[in-house]
Amino acid sequence: MRVGLLTGGGDVPGLNAAIRAVVKRGEGEHGHSIVGFRNGWKGLAEGDVLPMTRHHIRNVLATGGTLLGTARFHPRADDGSLDAVLATLEAERIEAVICIGGDGTLHAASKVAEAGVRVVAVPKTIDNDVWGTDRSIGFDTAVTIATEAVDRIHTTAESHNRVMIVEVMGRHAGWIAATAGIAGGAEVVLAPEEPFDIDKIVRFLKHRHRAHASFSIMVVAEGAVPAEGTSMSYEVQLGRFGEIVAGAIGERLGKEIAERTGFDTRVSVLGHVQRGGTPTPADRILGSRFGVAAIDAVTAGESAVMTALRGEEVVLVPLADIAGKVKQVPVDLLETARALA
Ligand code: F6P
Repeated sequence: MRVGLLTGGGDVPGLNAAIRAVVKRGEGEHGHSIVGFRNGWKGLAEGDVLPMTRHHIRNVLATGGTLLGTARFHPRADDGSLDAVLATLEAERIEAVICIGGDGTLHAASKVAEAGVRVVAVPKTIDNDVWGTDRSIGFDTAVTIATEAVDRIHTTAESHNRVMIVEVMGRHAGWIAATAGIAGGAEVVLAPEEPFDIDKIVRFLKHRHRAHASFSIMVVAEGAVPAEGTSMSYEVQLGRFGEIVAGAIGERLGKEIAERTGFDTRVSVLGHVQRGGTPTPADRILGSRFGVAAIDAVTAGESAVMTALRGEEVVLVPLADIAGKVKQVPVDLLETARALA
């Protein structure tokens, strides 16, 4: 069988492990030909083919990024791009597609499946907010990087008696903020799930600096917002495509905290460093497991499903079940972060 393979949306460490697993298992065990498409759904629409053999996946397990390239592009019926995808699949005699991606790519996957294509999806996002799976590829590496950053900021915060605000990725869910905040011992963790009250934070910081310590670390998700009716008015900064702008809430909070407390305050926006470089063992393993599960699912005739981690097991969940949902951080995780302040 000829199986198409693509990676879409923002890259994450661990994608190459998944690609490698699809190719090794697909060729070796099942005798399939794996046909890669460059730059996500865009490459499929444009017929930008990169045939994948064992030769292409040599020495990629420990590398970051995606050797197929990626793009934020979603085929649509109304602009002809969905038809272009179907035409490429026919021209290349592709019988099934494995797509590795986050929300947008998975949404596109269900549209392509509805058009009659056999599609199996694999979840990846450092945000860990794909519904239906305990983990997505990339999250573990991002938390490792963010935790190391918080550890490093700790020493300079203490030396200078400063409040340090560390902004991490997470527009719709605060998984990185909550976990790196707990692992790094942050005093304040702010996530989109629980809008904050700036007065409470200021009272807490003033008390802490009077009573226990002369420095504090706040880990803030880029999608954190003040609660309605509290004393900080804030309009969410949106970019060209309606996306939350990185750095905006961190910078604004830095100003508010400095003005309201008088404490010397600095802001670090970690940004894309969280998505780069070598994947952790956990992400290499998850990518490998999802890759094997995806090609096995395709071979078994499955379609419109996504590989998912549930506890210790990899299972398949229908794409229809995850559509339009965001997996948010559970209350107890945020409560743990607060309890350890
Ligand atoms: O969706 C993954 C993610 O890394 C988010 O955490 C972040 O908000 C966004 O992508 C950044 O997107 P871009 O790479 O387009 O700037």
